[in-house]
Amino acid sequence: MTLIVTGGAGFIGSNFIFHIMEKYPNYRVVCLDKLTYAGNLSTLAPVMKNKNFRFVKADICDRDAVFALFEEEKPDVVVNFAAESHVDRSIEEPGIFLQTNIMGTATLMDACRKFGIKRFHQVSTDEVYGDLPLDRPDLFFTEQTPIHTSSPYSSSKAAADLLALAYYRTYGLAVSVSRCSNNYGPYHFPEKLIPLMIANALNNKPLPVYGKGENVRDWLYVEDHCKAIDLIIHKGRAGEVYNIGGHNEMKNIDIVKIICKELNKPESLITFVADRKGHDMRYAIDPSKIHRELGWLPETKFEDGIKKTIEWYLSNREWWETIISGEYKEYYEKMYGNR
Ligand SMILES: NC(=O)c1ccc[n+]([C@@H]2O[C@H](COP(=O)([O-])OP(=O)(O)OC[C@H]3O[C@@H](n4cnc5c(N)ncnc54)[C@H](O)[C@@H]3O)[C@@H](O)[C@H]2O)c1
Repeated sequence: MTLIVTGGAGFIGSNFIFHIMEKYPNYRVVCLDKLTYAGNLSTLAPVMKNKNFRFVKADICDRDAVFALFEEEKPDVVVNFAAESHVDRSIEEPGIFLQTNIMGTATLMDACRKFGIKRFHQVSTDEVYGDLPLDRPDLFFTEQTPIHTSSPYSSSKAAADLLALAYYRTYGLAVSVSRCSNNYGPYHFPEKLIPLMIANALNNKPLPVYGKGENVRDWLYVEDHCKAIDLIIHKGRAGEVYNIGGHNEMKNIDIVKIICKELNKPESLITFVADRKGHDMRYAIDPSKIHRELGWLPETKFEDGIKKTIEWYLSNREWWETIISGEYKEYYEKMYGNR
């Protein structure tokens, strides 16, 4: 079995590669990644020397490079994690999101059609469903919930989902789509909420929280997401969408307070900054379909997952310190410097 994993130098893709290579030591895994600001080759160091692993630096929008790689590797399965993934960046610069997230997905699927791939899996997000009101805790996103996006990021992901399902219906390409809630865990780029707060707290820097921090997200430990995708590509039905979520809804402000407590830092570090434009209030996934059909359930409780994550950031300081000392710093100043 040969898998092409795109975006494998990023947060979830790298965790997925580690999971697959450990569970299926005979699989060949080829990571295709452009190494944008979010991709970090050092993340893949644990597998780089494995004879069943290959890294290829390429853009999923580069048709020639993608087709050449498929020709060479003849993959059985393609899992597409490659994306521009940060909502704030999509508000600043939507174009690159449309290019990578939509056109890149189409390019990969064209290659899948040409080379007769057995499964193309599109890694998507619960953000395609828009948001839910805070005062209706009884409401959840199901796979039938209409697409109703808020940001250029979620719109580009929704467009890719629709295109993937269209390739299934029109060309019979064996496509599956998963829509997952917010992930956390090792190798999370330090511009996203949890690693940003851990890194800032460790450096005794202010902890910038949007608005009043009331926004609710459903948090899932990254390993549980990887296990769900593993199940879908092996046992899930083609042409189907599977929601993945932890039933673990938390307000942003409560997450930040937990991080302060775990790191023994004062809550006075918390500073409220002007809210994100169009900020979604609440995401909440109903994952009953993947449980019913594939037997998936999240295994890591948030109390344990957040401790493991903090421990990982404490013992891998070099990984994130290198990142925040580079180009990321300029971006950070632009986003939070004058708020
Ligand atoms: N992080 C979450 O909480 C979350 C939740 C649900 C779904 N998702 C989805 O999961 C996927 C992975 O998310 P992540 O958080 O790991 O993202 P990430 O930003 O950490 O990683 C993205 C990776 O894609 C690569 N990439 C970007 N553009 C590329 C291109 N044009 N060609 C090839 N490679 C390219 C980057 O170099 C990087 O390695 C995304 O599709 C995202 O929409 C993320």
